[in-house]
Amino acid sequence: MKLTVVGGGSTYTPELVDGFARLRDTLPIEELVLVDPAADRLELVGGLARRIFARQGHPGRIVTTGDLDAGVEGADAVLLQLRIGGQAAREQDETWPLECGCVGQETTGAGGLAKALRTVPVVLDIAERVRRTNPDAWIIDFTNPVGIVTRALLKAGHKAVGLCNVAIGLQRKFAERLGVTPAEVHLNHVGLNHLTWETGVRLGGPSGEDVLPKLLADHGETIAADLRLPRPVLDRLGVVPSYYLRYYYAHDEVVRELGTKPSRAAEVAAMERQLLEMYADPALDEKPALLARRGGAFYSEAAVDLAASLLGDGGSTYQVVNTLNHGTLPFLPADAVIEVQAAVGRQGAAPLPVEAVDPLYAGLMANVTAYEDLALDAALRGGRDRVFRALLSHPLIGQYEYAEALTDRLIAHNREHLAWA
Ligand code: G6P
Ligand code: MN
Repeated sequence: MKLTVVGGGSTYTPELVDGFARLRDTLPIEELVLVDPAADRLELVGGLARRIFARQGHPGRIVTTGDLDAGVEGADAVLLQLRIGGQAAREQDETWPLECGCVGQETTGAGGLAKALRTVPVVLDIAERVRRTNPDAWIIDFTNPVGIVTRALLKAGHKAVGLCNVAIGLQRKFAERLGVTPAEVHLNHVGLNHLTWETGVRLGGPSGEDVLPKLLADHGETIAADLRLPRPVLDRLGVVPSYYLRYYYAHDEVVRELGTKPSRAAEVAAMERQLLEMYADPALDEKPALLARRGGAFYSEAAVDLAASLLGDGGSTYQVVNTLNHGTLPFLPADAVIEVQAAVGRQGAAPLPVEAVDPLYAGLMANVTAYEDLALDAALRGGRDRVFRALLSHPLIGQYEYAEALTDRLIAHNREHLAWA
């Protein structure tokens, strides 16, 4: 099996490689190709990746290259984990929306739109090249904003599935609190990428006992603390929102907070410098503990499970993925990309049926789906007016004055990445 990681020079890669090494029985990789235009980073990350494989006795070969076409040639699956403009562009996304009193975040709100506009054309170009060389290869997209990027890929007819680690992170946490293994915890996870709610926590599988009420009764305090939402809010909802919902439920509070501390991008950039220094040490042959301070915990496990199900012959398994709605959530268009439990196998991902969704969540999902549609239109066709329409439609923006001001700022800060600007 050959697997290619585009954005392989990312500091996240050792997390992924560690997962490939540990879980090699699930996913027997013969060749792992790391593709990245940044040769210096690629060399450091590739060196550590080889040492991790060697330490764990993984027989697979690790190849590094800056040549995308050569890197994807013959790949069974291509994992996309890239960040156009790096942390510097992310820092912008997290900063200028605050000037208008709006949240500055890399996937939510105006910053997320900027990221989508920079990213969609590049990802589509990569996917096109993958399709030209290997029409059967699966594309696994971890590149944010995952919902919009996956929608772009599927709309263009690519064999793609979108991946995020929020669900697997919650599954692991809940399992620990319940004193069971992660495999025993089946989440009723519903929504769009970075806009999800756990409406049930079932033991043993999709039709197992729902222990969410008990989980909230026994551990509501710590769950609320993790989400940084007041406990009574959690109790009233009776479901567990993802931490991205704090940007909605506590928007103004978050904006005030963000105004008083360094951006997450600045924090991550400092961490990345440290990580790269560590990766350069030839004695290091495992992922350093510092990597756990990044947001991508369990990303590798989710990616291994997903690739194994898409490529394997072991039938299908249940996994939370981003895929086409096709009526699963009847209040959203068929071609919307949703993030739900799906049966994943060689044919792809088929969402499991979802119980009726409370209008409290369905309304927000519908609004953000419309935004994502307009965001994709702006990313594909460009133009100030399309950017404005996407921003005006966003539930965290909504007012024309903000949408105007944010449109100007988005374009001004991203001109070098936007072919049409
Ligand atoms: C979570 C999200 C990812 C996001 C990451 C940010 O893992 O699911 O989509 O990229 O957090 O983490 P960072 O360490 O870059 O802030
Ligand atoms: Mn994510």
